[in-house]
Amino acid sequence: MGTRFELTEQHYRYLFENASDAMWVHDMKGNIMDANRAFEKLTGYTHEELIGMSITKLLTSDESLNIAREVRSKLLSGKDIEQPYEQRYTRKDGETGIMKMATSPVIIDGEVKGFQHVARDVTEERQLRENMRFYVQQITRAQEEERERIARELHDEASPPLLLLIQHLDMIASNTKPKLSKPLEEGLEGLLQLTIEALGGLRRCAQNLRPRILDDLGLLPAADWMAEDLAKSCGIEAQVKVIGSERSLPAEVELLLFRIAQEALNNIRRHSEASRAWITIEFGDDKVILMVKDNGKGFELPRRIGDLVSAGKLGLAGMQERVRLIKGKLTIQSEPGKGISSRLT
Ligand SMILES: Nc1ncnc2c1ncn2[C@@H]1O[C@H](COP(=O)(O)OP(=O)(O)OP(=O)(O)O)[C@@H](O)[C@H]1O
Ligand SMILES: [Mg+2]
Repeated sequence: MGTRFELTEQHYRYLFENASDAMWVHDMKGNIMDANRAFEKLTGYTHEELIGMSITKLLTSDESLNIAREVRSKLLSGKDIEQPYEQRYTRKDGETGIMKMATSPVIIDGEVKGFQHVARDVTEERQLRENMRFYVQQITRAQEEERERIARELHDEASPPLLLLIQHLDMIASNTKPKLSKPLEEGLEGLLQLTIEALGGLRRCAQNLRPRILDDLGLLPAADWMAEDLAKSCGIEAQVKVIGSERSLPAEVELLLFRIAQEALNNIRRHSEASRAWITIEFGDDKVILMVKDNGKGFELPRRIGDLVSAGKLGLAGMQERVRLIKGKLTIQSEPGKGISSRLT
């Protein structure tokens, strides 16, 4: 066990001066009383320039002044504020940056004398995040365009010859039937069936890439189609339920909801071992809630969905990114043995 010792004010001063986070104190008028080296670096002002300077020289936009006022009045009336919060600020060289900061009142003899702050510059981090988001958005858009193009080609170029082949085979089969030997007749019939299946597969493929039903008829018929397809392809009985009065949504939003339901159903097909699934679409006054649920084995959710990405699992993370694009909210719930439900608000 170490010996206990008292830290002197000098020690605390050292900590303050050398902390890598910016720290400063200002009085009730907003005039800076003390600041550490990291704050000098953050703002570009020297210590001498900072002392006595008004904080409004750093918080130049109306938005940041409003935030500062709100923080101040909440702290003065003893209310909680969300900490840390983000604040835009202007450096000495005129550049603006974003800092993540925490604020608390300086109380001396029971009276608030000023405010102290700890902050860190997050401009680059924010920029990086925004660039990343933009990048994801562009890729998603490019992917959708590509899918649409391939679906169109399958539909317009690969399907017609197959359809023609079916018609010809059918014609040959019915015209020549009496004259054909049994094996030939069966062979012809087999060819016909095979071609019909090939066309069916091609159409399903095109529908999955970009369902015409979504573009032509909208989200609900598309959801019905997905549910039917799930039952047909793997025997999981899926139900679509609509709550509230249906209305049409912007095409981008419909496509996004469709893609999310599609990924959720793909996951159910591949991972859940469920026998039933439910798709619920609820139309609220100013929001739409999509919920996809199954009664399968469920799974252990990682702490962050992003953690799945490094394992090459992109489905849920992709859902989350898409949802962010329309400023929605995605909730995924799972209890082992009780299936999984993803809810998009
Ligand atoms: N309905 C479900 N039931 C049980 N487990 C699920 C369900 N949905 C997802 N999971 C689990 O969550 C993991 C992550 O899903 P995610 O969609 O992100 O990746 P993936 O399906 O494995 O791969 P990808 O979607 O990229 O092809 C899955 O590997 C699976 O273990
Ligand atoms: Mg998946």
